[in-house]
Amino acid sequence: MPGVAVVGRGLTRDYPAGERSLTALDHVDIDIDAGSLVAITGPSGSGKSTLLHVIGGMDILTSGTLRVGGTQLDELPPRRLVIYRRKVGFVFQRFHLLPALTAADNVAAPLLPYEAGKKLQQRARELLEQVGLGDRADALPSQLSGGEQQRVAIARALIVDPPLLLADEPTGNLDSVTGVAIVDLLIDLHTRTGATLIVATHDPAVDARCDHHLAIRDGRMEAPSAESTARTFERPASA
Ligand SMILES: Nc1ncnc2c1ncn2[C@@H]1O[C@H](COP(=O)(O)OP(=O)(O)OP(=O)(O)O)[C@@H](O)[C@H]1O
Ligand SMILES: [Mg+2]
Repeated sequence: MPGVAVVGRGLTRDYPAGERSLTALDHVDIDIDAGSLVAITGPSGSGKSTLLHVIGGMDILTSGTLRVGGTQLDELPPRRLVIYRRKVGFVFQRFHLLPALTAADNVAAPLLPYEAGKKLQQRARELLEQVGLGDRADALPSQLSGGEQQRVAIARALIVDPPLLLADEPTGNLDSVTGVAIVDLLIDLHTRTGATLIVATHDPAVDARCDHHLAIRDGRMEAPSAESTARTFERPASA
């Protein structure tokens, strides 16, 4: 399924904090083209996860307008938001696999309430094959390494054929070599499926692999730095 564009204006998310409120996102504007590969960087607490959650329909805006593909998220009633969310692939830092289910059943889990049977199992196993875990389909998460668990989580994100893949610190719990392999895998899947991929990361190496760079600080989008602009337009000298 081809990727979707993401257009946000004045994105604001306030959380109640005692008598005051905490502004996690403060009038953020974003324009992400369909099928692009975007990194979101920023210090801890700057609002990266909040932005991904809002785009993925896992959190709601206090104000602002947000369109993802053909869906105007800020106008969706909660019931429709649940349906929207089913088509978003989400990869988390802490994998979030169900410990009692095998790798194949974890991959199939998002669709289990809607379809069951051999076809779904077969698709789950195909996806595990694609992420290099074809021979571990019957393993439990506790029998897999961190990098393998993240591969299962990526396969699970793909089971719904998502036009939008959101990855929140996907390498945060992995050593650097495993982290590179996971980023390679995500970018490869993004290239093959055409899905828009947005990655929140602290890791400059992950940021450098992306085509576009958004930086957020205290809930506000920063103007692109000279360095990130240069990186965006960098081309190999020999080309
Ligand atoms: N559910 C919530 N309730 C109240 N405050 C929240 C909630 N979620 C996030 N916040 C606050 O919003 C701000 C932004 O948090 P967010 O998780 O988006 O930051 P982040 O950039 O992802 O940080 P990190 O790099 O540590 O993951 C923080 O001050 C955080 O404490
Ligand atoms: Mg975060």
